[in-house]
Amino acid sequence: MLSTRMQREWLRSFLLGTMEKCDRGTWEHSIRVGKLCERIASEFGYSKKEVSYITLAGLLHDVGKVFMTDMINYPGRLPDRDMYIVSQHPQLGIRFININFSDVPAQVTEGIVLHHERLNGSGYPYNLKGDEISMAARIVAVADVFDAMSNLRPYRPPLPKSEVYKELCRPGYDQDAVFALMKNLRND
Ligand SMILES: [Fe+2]
Repeated sequence: MLSTRMQREWLRSFLLGTMEKCDRGTWEHSIRVGKLCERIASEFGYSKKEVSYITLAGLLHDVGKVFMTDMINYPGRLPDRDMYIVSQHPQLGIRFININFSDVPAQVTEGIVLHHERLNGSGYPYNLKGDEISMAARIVAVADVFDAMSNLRPYRPPLPKSEVYKELCRPGYDQDAVFALMKNLRND
C-alpha cells in the first residue's frame, strides 16, 4: 500500500501525463488553473499544506474529461446529447478518484466535483448555493473561468480582459476569490 503522500504524487503525475496524451488543450488549461489556484489561495494566507491541496484541485478539476476526449475536441457546438455527457465530467472525475485512491484531501475532491457550481444556484451538477459550496471549489471555479475565457477555444478566440472580469463580477462567483486573483495578477 502506498503512503498517502506517494499516492498523491502518483495521482498528480499519472493523471497529468494521461491528460497530456489524451487532450493537450485540457492538460494546458489544467496546469494554468492549478497555478491560478495557488495564487488565489496564497493571497488568502492559507497554510502551505492547504495551498498545495487547492493547487492540486486546480490541476485535477477536469480529470473526468480524460474519458470524453472526442467530445472535448469537437470543432464547434456539440449536439445536446454530447453536451449532456460532457456536463457529467465532475461526477465522472470524482468517481474515478474515489475508486482508485484513498484519503484524498477534501479540498481536492470538492474542487473536482463542485467547480461548476455557482453561488446563486445556477451551476451544476447539483445546483448548490452559497455556503453549500466549499471555498476550495469557489477558488477553482474562479481560476477555471478566468483561464477558459482568457484563452483560445476550438469554437472562439480569447476574450478581452474586460469581458472576463465582467463575467467574474456576476453573482455566481466568490468575490473575495475574484479580488484575490485580480490583486495577485496586478503584480505581473
Ligand atoms: Fe470543468
